[in-house]
This record gives sequence, C-alpha cells and structure tokens, in this order.
Amino acid sequence: MRVMVVGASGAIGARLLPQLTGRGHEVIGTFRSPGRAERVRALGAQPVALDLLDPAAVARAVLETEPEVIIHQATALASMRFSRSLDRSFAPTNRLRTEGTDALLAAARQAGVRQFIAQSFAPYRYIREGGMVKTEDDPLDPSPPAMMRETTAAMNHLDRAVTEAGGIALRYGGFYGAPDVMTKAIRKRQYPMVGDGSGVMPFIHLDDAASATVLALDQQGPAIYNIVDDEPAPMCEWLPALAAALGARPPRRVPPWLAGLIAGQGMVTMAAESRGASNAKAKKELGWTLHYPSWREGFAASYQRGG
Ligand SMILES: NC(=O)c1ccc[n+]([C@@H]2O[C@H](COP(=O)([O-])OP(=O)(O)OC[C@H]3O[C@@H](n4cnc5c(N)ncnc54)[C@H](OP(=O)(O)O)[C@@H]3O)[C@@H](O)[C@H]2O)c1
Repeated sequence: MRVMVVGASGAIGARLLPQLTGRGHEVIGTFRSPGRAERVRALGAQPVALDLLDPAAVARAVLETEPEVIIHQATALASMRFSRSLDRSFAPTNRLRTEGTDALLAAARQAGVRQFIAQSFAPYRYIREGGMVKTEDDPLDPSPPAMMRETTAAMNHLDRAVTEAGGIALRYGGFYGAPDVMTKAIRKRQYPMVGDGSGVMPFIHLDDAASATVLALDQQGPAIYNIVDDEPAPMCEWLPALAAALGARPPRRVPPWLAGLIAGQGMVTMAAESRGASNAKAKKELGWTLHYPSWREGFAASYQRGG
C-alpha cells in the first residue's frame, strides 16, 4: 500500500518506517524540522516537509502524494519542559491533535484516502474508579485534574474525530526503548516516587508500538485499540525497576504533600489513582504478538547498554 506517515522523523516514526517498507509498503514520510529529510530518506521513505498546522499545505501534500492510507504520528514533545501544568507543556501537541487531525481528515476526505490511523494515548485517560486495568469500552476520566483538562480534551477530540471518520485511534502506552526526558530525570534521581506509588502505568516498547500499527493497516475502522504491554504496573514497581535498568540509584520517595507543593496536586492525583489499560482487544483483533510482553524484560533489554 501507499502509506503516508505524518511525523515520520519522530520516535515512533523511526521504528515504524522500516517495518512498513519491510512489509513491502511504499512510504511517504513527513517531517517539519529543517534538515530532517535525510533522516526520513535513510529510513526508506520519500520525505515531504509538512506543517500540520497549515491546512492548505496539508491538503496540497495529501492530494499531490495520493496515499491510500494516512498514519498520523505527529506530536511536539521533543523539546517539552515539564511544568506544574501539563496543559502548558502539551499545548503545541494539543494543537496537532485537534487542528492537525482535523486538517488531515479533511485532506483525506478530499483525496479519497481509504484508511486513517492516528496516535492516541492510554495512560491517564480512563476513569479513576473501579478496576485498575481498563478496556477500550470503559469510560474515560470525566473529571481529569485541572492541570491536564485541555490535554485530555485534545486526545478525546482526536479519538472522536478519527473514529467518526471511520478511522482507527491507537491508544499507545508510555513509549520506552530510546532515551527520553523520563530516563534522563531518573538517571539524575530527579523523578521521585510519590507517596506509595499506587497509580498504574501502561507501557509499550517502541518496536511493539510500531508492529501493532503495521497490523492496523489490515483492519477496518472505526476502532480504538489500547496498544500497551501485558503488565500495566503501579509506580512502586516500575520506577525502581527502570532506575535499576538504567544503572541509576533507587528513586527518592516524596510524600504527597511535598510533591503537591513542588509539582502540583494534579500530578499527585495521577501518581496515586491513574489506571492501566488492557491489550486483549488489540491482540485478538490485530493478531498482535509482542516482542516485549512486559516492561520487566523490555527495560532491561533496552537500557543495559545505556539509554
Ligand atoms: N505514547 C508516548 O509515550 C509518547 C507519544 C509521543 C511522544 N513521546 C515521547 O516524546 C518524546 C519526543 O517525541 P518525538 O521524538 O517523536 O518528537 P516530536 O517532537 O514529538 O515529533 C514527532 C513527529 O511530529 C513531527 N512534528 C512536530 N511538529 C509538527 C508540525 N507542526 N507539523 C507536522 N509534523 C510535526 C516531528 O517532525 P520533526 O522531527 O521534523 O520535528 C516528528 O516527526 C520522545 O521521547 C517520545 O518517546 C511519547
């Protein structure tokens, strides 16, 4: 198939492009930062410069390259700084998930694109009541903490707009498998355990996220899939394991009142209450098998040589 990957030069794009070309797909890969064309070409795709926030340029790019499928993987997190407001940190990404998604969907309609797949997110999304592991049919959080309301609304918009258009939203777990802001902070002991660390996080290795995405090409939408590993886990389990895999000292423990003063109450709430997500639907319907079914092996394999 002729596949356009929007955001091909990012963390997931770099894993996805070789898997797509390896399966015989012809790939158009978009990038935005100057100088990224060569990276996209080296990954086996035809590079196209594109700003998703320019709807006319989006329409032009899609009409000119005539993809059969669009995979929207654009985010703006590479230079993100964590702050007390997740909404402030995520503001540029939220625009890509709302305005960017709408522009791409409009272009896809105009060009008669057959299939649309988009990056969504599973952690911190589901209702913070009842079981600790949620399926796609469980309700989303109706009252997210104030510091992440716009971010949550942007992800909800993406899920809704994509599925209403007959597409597929992939709610990925927290990516790992490459150095990122979290691994850097953990190495410096700047990522503490908050309270008893009971909030649950679903993770996914970047290679497994990419393999699920490739399988979604053969699937009919509308659909939503949690693309997470088999073992959503509380912070009190995964954080010490990740620190050990990184060769870092064990994380500091911070009482909730102090974490609230430093990072804001919203972060404390999520550290204590967030839910995990189940991958049963993705495994069953996509026929997906994971190379790293648990972050336990995945962290060790990814970071033992330094990450
Ligand atoms: N599920 C998750 O946990 C999750 C999801 C996403 C990202 N992350 C993490 O966030 C960090 C940064 O992500 P990343 O490396 O993928 O970089 P990123 O800066 O988030 O960029 C992702 C892709 O979107 C493109 N892009 C950015 N702004 C755009 C715009 N206005 N129009 C069109 N395309 C645009 C980028 O192009 P350029 O490369 O040309 O700038 C890149 O191809 C990584 O550590 C990653 O693992 C985690």
